[in-house]
Amino acid sequence: KRVSVDYVQGILQPTPTCETWDQIWNFQAKPDDLLISTYPKAGTTWTQEIVDLIHNGGDVKNSERAPTHIRFPFIEWIFPSVVSGLEQANEMPSPRILKTHLPIHLLPPSFLEKNCKIIYVARNPKDNMVSYYHFQRMNKGLPDPGTWEEYFETFLAGKVCWGSWYDHVKGWWEAKDQHRILYLFYEEMKKNPKHEIQKLAEFMGKTLDDEVLEKIVHHTSFDVMKQNPMANYSSIPTEVMNHSISPFMRKGTVGDWKKHFTVAQNERFDEDYKEKMADTSLTFHFQL
Ligand code: PPS
Repeated sequence: KRVSVDYVQGILQPTPTCETWDQIWNFQAKPDDLLISTYPKAGTTWTQEIVDLIHNGGDVKNSERAPTHIRFPFIEWIFPSVVSGLEQANEMPSPRILKTHLPIHLLPPSFLEKNCKIIYVARNPKDNMVSYYHFQRMNKGLPDPGTWEEYFETFLAGKVCWGSWYDHVKGWWEAKDQHRILYLFYEEMKKNPKHEIQKLAEFMGKTLDDEVLEKIVHHTSFDVMKQNPMANYSSIPTEVMNHSISPFMRKGTVGDWKKHFTVAQNERFDEDYKEKMADTSLTFHFQL
């Protein structure tokens, strides 16, 4: 059985969550909280693993203490057999590393009021769409995506959970200079992981020697994370996430959209993209 969905201030959300939206918006962040914010499927899990390892100085055993969804409370979500993200966060000792997919206008205001450090990761929308489509196929916690053709239109219309990709990436981009937001790109992380990991470490105020950096690069590579039961979501019951339909760690590449988009879809996408992104200085270095 699939979840139902509802609009929250114009943004589609799975429902019911166990907390009310007022409880979520009243969440009290602490100044030393580190928030990882992404549009779904932009590289959240990868960034979580990197940040955890930077935080503990490359101690792989320590980062294997629990699965991703237990280590990093997902503030607006509840996983099966786990307390809600809010409760998890409230029980967790500081410093906490938290996760959200919320567009910036739905973020609990406390994160910005307390001047928390926030890491935002954006992924090129074509690959992001493909990844989200396959994730909705395998994850009963989200609506059935329908056919690829149907999903293509749903995504462009922003009628997916957590709303429009375009509004999400632009909203966080516009906020980044007024707040402590490090804005990263999935494609840059793929191209030069060591460089991006170093950037993350600097942002977190940590100095890592080369050996630790290399260790983190290795441990957070797609192939290693795919085999890591504490990072590949294999601990979520199959009735919720069915990895035989499509694994959570699916491909982890740049450009897989080329195997999904028809020529007509690509043209339609590019035209629509130009319109929706005309009002931002945010640019993506990917083939459009
Ligand atoms: S979620 O559900 O929103 O938290 O998903 P998220 O982690 O943001 O995105 C999942 C996609 O990220 C890919 N992934 C990686 N790519 C490169 N390197 C590493 N280490 C890595 N770990 C996860 C994962 O495979 C999903 O992308 P696709 O394109 O579907 O493979």
